[in-house]
Amino acid sequence: MTKTLNYIRPYGRTAAWAVFIKFIGSLAELFLPLLLDYIIDDVVPTGDLAMVLWLGLAMLICSLAAMFGNIWANRLSVIAAARMTHDLRYDLFKKISYLKSSQVDEITVPSLVSRLTSDSYYVNQMVARTLRLGVRAPILLIGGIIMTFIVDVYLACVLLACVPFVIIAVVIITKKSIPYYAKKQACSDDMVRAMQENISGVRIIRALSKTEYEKGRFRGVSDRLGATDYSAKKVMSLTNPLATLILNLGLVVVIVVGALMSDGAGSVLAVLTYFTMILNGMLGLSKIFVVISQGVASADRIEKVLEKDERLSVGTYPEGDGQYAVQFDHVNFSYNGVENNLTDINLALKRGGTLGIIGATGSGKTTVINLLMRFYDAGSGAVYVNGQDVRSVPPEELRSHFGTAFQNDFLMAATVRENIDYGRNLPQENIDKAVDSAQARQFVSALDGGLDYDIAQKAANLSGGQKQRLTVARALAGEPEILILDDASSALDYETDAALRRALAENYPQTTKIIIAQRVSSVRQADVILVLDDGKQIGLGTHEQLLQNCEEYALIYKAQMGEDV
Ligand SMILES: Nc1ncnc2c1ncn2[C@@H]1O[C@H](COP(=O)(O)OP(=O)(O)OP(=O)(O)O)[C@@H](O)[C@H]1O
Ligand SMILES: [Mg+2]
Repeated sequence: MTKTLNYIRPYGRTAAWAVFIKFIGSLAELFLPLLLDYIIDDVVPTGDLAMVLWLGLAMLICSLAAMFGNIWANRLSVIAAARMTHDLRYDLFKKISYLKSSQVDEITVPSLVSRLTSDSYYVNQMVARTLRLGVRAPILLIGGIIMTFIVDVYLACVLLACVPFVIIAVVIITKKSIPYYAKKQACSDDMVRAMQENISGVRIIRALSKTEYEKGRFRGVSDRLGATDYSAKKVMSLTNPLATLILNLGLVVVIVVGALMSDGAGSVLAVLTYFTMILNGMLGLSKIFVVISQGVASADRIEKVLEKDERLSVGTYPEGDGQYAVQFDHVNFSYNGVENNLTDINLALKRGGTLGIIGATGSGKTTVINLLMRFYDAGSGAVYVNGQDVRSVPPEELRSHFGTAFQNDFLMAATVRENIDYGRNLPQENIDKAVDSAQARQFVSALDGGLDYDIAQKAANLSGGQKQRLTVARALAGEPEILILDDASSALDYETDAALRRALAENYPQTTKIIIAQRVSSVRQADVILVLDDGKQIGLGTHEQLLQNCEEYALIYKAQMGEDV
């Protein structure tokens, strides 16, 4: 919580002004009934009209001060809260974008989204409302009681007798409602998750005619969120009427007592007004209580992310063999720390060479890349790039060696050129060479505007093969030392795939290449092919060697031969 509160520091002046002006405004409000009492009971009977007018003017000034003070202070508090939330949200966003993959897995993406959106909103509400009500409510409450004593001691005693009942009612009700707010946040995570899955999976959902099923699922989470919200509000909605009832009963007693023993109508009128003020003060405090508990829960969720140490430790590790661009030495790895996703991987790839990785879905191909680029650290064994353990190189430097087209990689809603350049300000010839080599020239030229064609959100206006070619072009355009194509040609026809491989060999002869594929034809010319099965290395060698000594590879090859070129 302290970490979140520190964000208000730079706007402390604005916040302090808001509180100060609120203080003056509330005091002005507090003096109004007292003036009224004085005018009615003490000045009017004397018939001094000038005095009545002067005091009336004082009342007007107090009212205006209260109104403008309130407006000004509310604006200042909104400004301070909005600016601090802006900073907090920005830092959270920055942190999220640097989180380690394992940390994202742990918190989950939907939960990160709701921390960035609704949790930061609750923190904003906490700060804004506390600045607005934090001074006003106690002044109205305590000041109201003191003022009532000044006006009339008997009536004040009646009021004081009511206050504990109101406080008990407000505390019980507010306490009951708080757990619902924490539950609401969890439900909101679920709703973001359902919505995200729905939006990203909209095509498959339609293709499988699962729209009705998904609608039902969404309705389920949405109903749960609605029900929790309703439960919280149902409890909270008791506060106002119950507190008003108690005070109204008090008012009846005030009128009776006032009629019997008070010293004037002005006093009764003033006490009645103070009653309303005290009620507002109490309701204000209960509101603060709710926003603070909600805000504290949200601030904790945000701080849990901010406290994560996203920096990958860089240490000193023994060096590998410097002649290899990529080397895996007895590497084991597990995502969940229970069962291995990679078991004893050993391979070495010379600079400028090509590594093919083949294996069934879920066999661990992408995981090999995840370890190579240090998105995750190996459980045991070592991964080397240019003879250096990946854990001994700063991550930015390590990743600068690679140009990667990830499986199902994303394209931005921007032009083709911006997607390939990706903010690197690459020379035009790099982009042209990459577009040509990725076999994208023909379709890019046919687009309206060519390289300046606007790609839609999620690249919905491109075919699967076109998207893949652009992601390959993006990987190539930086002229990387090591090129990784993870299933990046799966949507290409055999002929285009073959042309891509030829272009890579001709135009990027120095580049070390790692090609992940399901098709033998995509990797058969590689210098070394790694065959994976359920995370285990069941074959390593050239195409010919594997045909001889890796039964599974030979089987895959035979099965694909009929359709292969
Ligand atoms: N972030 C993750 N957390 C937990 N398990 C994961 C994670 N990513 C992958 N896995 C699991 O690790 C195993 C290997 O996954 P990987 O993505 O490496 O397979 P793959 O060979 O690339 O498959 P595909 O051909 O479908 O891309 C799978 O069983 C998968 O469920
Ligand atoms: Mg994969």
